[in-house]
Amino acid sequence: MTTRPPLSFITSSFFSVLLFAARGLCQSVPAMYIFGDSLVDVGNNNYLSLSIARANFAHNGIDFPTGKPTGRFSNGKNAADFFAEKVGLPSPAPYLSLVSKFKKLSSSNATVTGVSFASGGAGILNGTDELFRQSIPLTKQVGYYSLVHEQLVQQLGPDEAQAHLSKSLFLVIIGSNDLFGYFNKNSKASKEYTPQQYVDLMASTLKGLLQRLYELGARKFVVSGVGVIGCCPAQRKRSTTSDCNVEVNTWSVKYNDGLKALLQELKTESSDIQYSYCETYDVMNNFIEHPEAYGFTEIKEACCGRGYLKAEFPCTPISTYCSNRKNHIFWDLYHPTEYTSSIFADSVYNASQPLLN
Ligand SMILES: *[C@@H]1O[C@H](CO)[C@@H](O)[C@H](O)[C@H]1NC(C)=O
Ligand SMILES: *[C@@H]1O[C@H](CO)[C@@H](O)[C@H](O)[C@H]1NC(C)=O
Ligand SMILES: *[C@@H]1O[C@H](CO)[C@@H](O)[C@H](O)[C@H]1NC(C)=O
Repeated sequence: MTTRPPLSFITSSFFSVLLFAARGLCQSVPAMYIFGDSLVDVGNNNYLSLSIARANFAHNGIDFPTGKPTGRFSNGKNAADFFAEKVGLPSPAPYLSLVSKFKKLSSSNATVTGVSFASGGAGILNGTDELFRQSIPLTKQVGYYSLVHEQLVQQLGPDEAQAHLSKSLFLVIIGSNDLFGYFNKNSKASKEYTPQQYVDLMASTLKGLLQRLYELGARKFVVSGVGVIGCCPAQRKRSTTSDCNVEVNTWSVKYNDGLKALLQELKTESSDIQYSYCETYDVMNNFIEHPEAYGFTEIKEACCGRGYLKAEFPCTPISTYCSNRKNHIFWDLYHPTEYTSSIFADSVYNASQPLLN
């Protein structure tokens, strides 16, 4: 009688040991929790039945692996997907997909590798969006995260949950919509605040919400500044010569300065915080000033849309779209192409190296 286990058993346990060892070595980051706007929304807004800030229709998604629209404001993947790939994690599922209809958060295991709370149109400030339920403002995203935190504590126990969260990344990509909102003609905010007061309010509000995440276990923050948003097609179309909106860009830089200062303050106040900051403004400015270095030949016009700069109407099934999506910075009037997002994710990833081990 032989005592040797069957070969298949040896092979499979050998591979599971290998797999386990590999996970142990590489999975120093066990999860990613994502907060933000349409640059990283992977489908939360699909669940907001009244929202018009949605992208779950053609021609969005034409270059996605399934070739179908998913709710991403892109021809394919967005920066959240590419960043997750780089870190070696699945792209976190939209929070609302875990709780909708008959699903309960408590029966989901997905939260252990991360959740995305990002929502197209969302801002740091509530704005008017909440009234129309177009998006999930950051305060509400953090509120949803507190429920995930509760579930993780129940599932893993308080100590294990804290150990898990302190190794996880908290990705925060937001702020553009607050600035677009302020500089909209006759905005309510512009009557209430000077631009400086407004960007200060954005920064102080964000600081409070990051502190709340810290209280709920977050230790590693990956934060992106806002890009050269005055140069997106929706802003350029206001100029007959398709120039960038200099005022919007100036205040984007000022907001980013406030953001860098607040991150530094947070670190001073809680020394166990680690953060990386990505200067997206410079990354995007490089695309505009040295397009050839990235293979861009169209830096002003959107790929998908209608009218002047394809920015008078958004990307919808009746819009036309460009055949080469790799030579355009912009997919639609506001959003980057999949290719632009991949470079953007690379630079966020490069900036976050110190947090990955
Ligand atoms: C979640 O994980 C537990 C233990 O690993 C397992 O028993 C359960 O079936 C999983 N639930 C789902 C919905 O996958
Ligand atoms: C946003 O709205 C929520 C709920 O109505 C409120 O609790 C919160 O204080 C508001 N946040 C800001 C920054 O105005
Ligand atoms: C990120 O770092 C890699 C390796 O150093 C480099 O090749 C790449 O150009 C960087 N990407 C960006 C967008 O900065």
